[in-house]
Amino acid sequence: MIIILFGPPGCGKGTQASIIAKENYYPHLSTGDMLREAVKFKTETGLIAAKIMEEGKLVSDDIVVNIIKDRIEQKDCENGFILDGFPRTIAQAKELDNMLLEKELLVNLVIEFSVNDEVLLNRIEGRFSCNDCGAGYNDHTRMPLKDGICDDCESSNFIRRKDDNKETASKRLESYNEETLPLLPYYKDKQVLFSIDGLADIKNVTNEIMSLIQK
Ligand code: AP5
Repeated sequence: MIIILFGPPGCGKGTQASIIAKENYYPHLSTGDMLREAVKFKTETGLIAAKIMEEGKLVSDDIVVNIIKDRIEQKDCENGFILDGFPRTIAQAKELDNMLLEKELLVNLVIEFSVNDEVLLNRIEGRFSCNDCGAGYNDHTRMPLKDGICDDCESSNFIRRKDDNKETASKRLESYNEETLPLLPYYKDKQVLFSIDGLADIKNVTNEIMSLIQK
């Protein structure tokens, strides 16, 4: 099954993709995570992407399409995968369709998270993670059980994303509204688009997604 989690920054795509991936044994493909990895290791792509990401703009279609093209060739994607943050433009969606067509596959499900901007900015500003094991936390909803110590690996090395500040998050929202929202009619026409309440608590959002997958 090929599933796209679709929605603005902070709507919960990454949170849900990692839960759903574990429950369904599908790999979680996040272009944001892959780009951050490239930035961290200062690869050629990372050097190009770093400034664009810090400005809250979209990295070029060519770069992200090639990243996904390579990733879906890997064996763990054979039985399906969950896309988080891709596609983000009509050009990316068409390229994805072409890649899948070559494998006689189609996008099966596009799940749109319905949210509001105020909640998004609050979630984004509160987000931080463990730099050693990647466990995610939030100032407003999920603090480590012991102050300053990661619940999962006991590290005290936490980080915040450079683009998780009010100014850049607003720009990311603008990019979403201008370049990504126009994708909704594209998937509506293909009759694979479903909307869920992204403001519900994390467990209820997971349940809604699971019931769409099982339909
Ligand atoms: P990317 O990493 O994809 O960022 P994004 O789309 O802006 O999404 P986020 O990661 O901010 O939010 P999310 O929806 O995953 O929310 P999360 O689950 O973490 O992209 C970063 C950048 O890379 C882009 O700006 C662009 O430059 C570039 N890029 C990436 N893909 C690209 C592409 N295809 N084309 C071009 N450029 C690309 O949740 C947020 C917080 O809220 C967390 O703390 C979480 O715990 C909390 N939370 C989640 N759900 C709930 C809930 N139901 N209730 C309460 N709290 C919740």
